[in-house]
Amino acid sequence: MKARIQENVALSPLTTFGIGGPARYFVRAPVEDAVLEAIRFAVDRNLPIFVLGGGSNLLVADRGFPGLVIRVGITGIEWEMQRDQTIVRAGAGEDWDGLVKSCVDRELAGIECLSGIPGSVGGTPVQNVGAYGQEVSEVLVIVRAYDRKTDSLVELSREDCRFTYRTSLFNTTAKDRYVVLQVTYSLTQNGPPAIRYPEVQREFDSKTANPTLAEVREAVRCIRARKAMLLVEGDPDCRSAGSFFKNPILGESQFAALEAVLPGERVPRYPAAPGKVKTASGWLIERAGFSKGYSVGPAGLSTKHALALVNKGGATAEDVLRLAREIRNRVQEKFGVRLIPEPVFLGFDKEVTTEFFRY
Ligand code: EPU
Repeated sequence: MKARIQENVALSPLTTFGIGGPARYFVRAPVEDAVLEAIRFAVDRNLPIFVLGGGSNLLVADRGFPGLVIRVGITGIEWEMQRDQTIVRAGAGEDWDGLVKSCVDRELAGIECLSGIPGSVGGTPVQNVGAYGQEVSEVLVIVRAYDRKTDSLVELSREDCRFTYRTSLFNTTAKDRYVVLQVTYSLTQNGPPAIRYPEVQREFDSKTANPTLAEVREAVRCIRARKAMLLVEGDPDCRSAGSFFKNPILGESQFAALEAVLPGERVPRYPAAPGKVKTASGWLIERAGFSKGYSVGPAGLSTKHALALVNKGGATAEDVLRLAREIRNRVQEKFGVRLIPEPVFLGFDKEVTTEFFRY
């Protein structure tokens, strides 16, 4: 047996939120065979399965999870040069920011703006990780996964993954079907860094030379640190799941209606699919009356960013839900926009997930 199944393992230390009860069963799977073995264990016992990556985008219920949690710890990175591209194959358990650093160190362009994002490689296709104008879907070529439906190992192309903003096949239509084992990216050897957001550009205003990949990585890490979006051990301002709500994607007329209730304000707008506008949840939350640092007991908003709900110390999942509800309801009342959480909810009653994820 390659997979050692443990019982009643606390999940809170395995999440960046530091919240949640235990997993009934838990296994660390360092190789593919161990993942398959663990899945068989759960199937034989009719247990639900949850695949845990870096635990950075996750809210675990206080009562925990009654099934098997599989922590995919498959590591290893392979590099293959193909003309001006380098194909990078990384195990799902590799630390994401470690991979970004290795790529930047090798002058590979394509993920430098995704620096400083906590979590593992396996999680990147699931929520189509993105920041500062780059998304993993732009450079991802293959996801190797175990398909629970057909009981086979499969390779999914970028098209198969059906990526859009923070979404993919893995967190929508085929939720719980695939277990990501390895992700392949195609990066540009000696390519220029992406400087698509004014916020990143501003970091280089006083420089004359073109920024290098390493400088852009550093700039993004600095910006993230200022917003409490870079994990700093022991800093309660970062005890969060990053952005707690997705940024709303509105139709043009909905966006116009939002502007109408905020006269004189420049409502943030970012490009989205044709005919759509993405706006900023953090901005709406502040305009709804919740300033940074606002708190209800041990759960609050980060003092640096209104979109990060934080565990100030000893918060329960219920505390976080109470605060999230208050914010969601007030934003909806004031602006007619419904905020949908970004983190995965694990172990909650169906009513809770329906309440929070209903559009
Ligand atoms: N804003 C406020 N108050 C705040 C926070 C932000 O008014 O407390 C305003 C900002 O001034 C800006 C706008 O809201 O005008 C957007 O804020 P920011 O640039 O900080 O980015 P964001 O929309 O909050 C998104 C992603 C981040 C990603 C950044 C950079 C989502 C849900 N969040 O944040 O991703 O790093 O853009 O691209 O898409 C994550 O997904 O967990 C995450 C951190």
